[in-house]
Amino acid sequence: MSIVSNSLKRIKPSPTIAVTQKARELKASGKDIISLGAGEPDFDTPDNIKQAAIKAIKDGDTKYTAVDGTPALKNAIVGKFKRENNLEYQTDQITVGAGGKHVIYNAMMATLNEGDEVIVPAPYWVSYPDMVLLAGGNPVILECNEKQGFKINPSELEKSITKKTKWIILNSPSNPTGACYSEKDIREIAKVLEKHSHVYILSDDIYEHVIYKGFQFFTIAQIDSLKDRVLTMNGISKAYSMTGWRIGYAAGPKEIIKAIAKIQSQSTTNPSSISQAAAVEALNGIQDFIKERAISFQERRDFVVKALNDIDGIECLNPDGAFYVFPSCKGLLGKKDPNGNELKTDTDFVQSLLENSGISVVQGSAFGLEGFFRISYATSMENLKKAMERIKSFCESLN
Ligand SMILES: Cc1ncc(COP(=O)(O)O)c(C=O)c1O
Repeated sequence: MSIVSNSLKRIKPSPTIAVTQKARELKASGKDIISLGAGEPDFDTPDNIKQAAIKAIKDGDTKYTAVDGTPALKNAIVGKFKRENNLEYQTDQITVGAGGKHVIYNAMMATLNEGDEVIVPAPYWVSYPDMVLLAGGNPVILECNEKQGFKINPSELEKSITKKTKWIILNSPSNPTGACYSEKDIREIAKVLEKHSHVYILSDDIYEHVIYKGFQFFTIAQIDSLKDRVLTMNGISKAYSMTGWRIGYAAGPKEIIKAIAKIQSQSTTNPSSISQAAAVEALNGIQDFIKERAISFQERRDFVVKALNDIDGIECLNPDGAFYVFPSCKGLLGKKDPNGNELKTDTDFVQSLLENSGISVVQGSAFGLEGFFRISYATSMENLKKAMERIKSFCESLN
């Protein structure tokens, strides 16, 4: 009999972390690898934030903190929601965890009973379905294809809601597609959700600040009729280039926030005191660099989308945010690579691309939609130029 629990057998390791790890290993063995797999900004954490962490260490701010966040950080988060989203919360409606991922995991563990359904629009961030499964729930995958811009069709959403639906997860800007829901899009979805008062909404806003010229960010908690059923998750990883600091947070119904604190009190106790001090500075300090960084990401997106669409057999939409694109490789499936192997699936495609060209990307099927692959362009323009040339010659070598 295996020592491993039955609930763990329901899930798989994160495929995006696996790809990043594989690229790291190949690089360490001396291979010339360009990784377009990582989900983190290539920029450094701003200096004022680092200084706040150093000060916290020097001041002895190195002990256990309140379970779900220091008062200073909760106040900074309340301020952030007011300033950026015009949303009012009290500190007892805020929770802080060790990253946005941890907050979502806690929320699922705190709320799901065996057999509860969670609607997960696909392509999805890889962790949603597995977290639902681990918590004993059933992910209900709602396919959103490229013809609908990888966004939810409200009438399809209506059909996927049952009596057992507990949550729907929304993610805009999206990982893996970069698709962004406008206020109009969200209002259409809200019209459906208003009719189903038993359904809670988890809005994953982690890429809120990675948006491009002209796009206005809107989040579903801004719709008054739904706010009491919305848990809005956000964090400092992407906006402030602080992926390693592990701070994420959420705002929402007190009952859920309290339940999450109960889990945290028996598991991680609290997020790192030093990272919390740094997060206070991130949220309260200067914000100018966020827009500057978004401009850099936009230049890279423009370059990558054009370069991909210039390749025969690849088609790529031009998304409004996040640092990902999700091109189709369907036009190349069925062809043979230089070693004579037939590329039957997107997984074959990305494996062959890595082996033959040293470019690491993630197959679309890992995100619930086959025939695509995800590119993260959170890397230097120099790397992107080299990578696009290599992808082009690889695709041209297929026959
Ligand atoms: C869509 C989405 N949500 C949440 C997260 C979690 O981010 P973190 O745990 O670093 O806050 C990520 C990270 O890749 C993500 O892509």
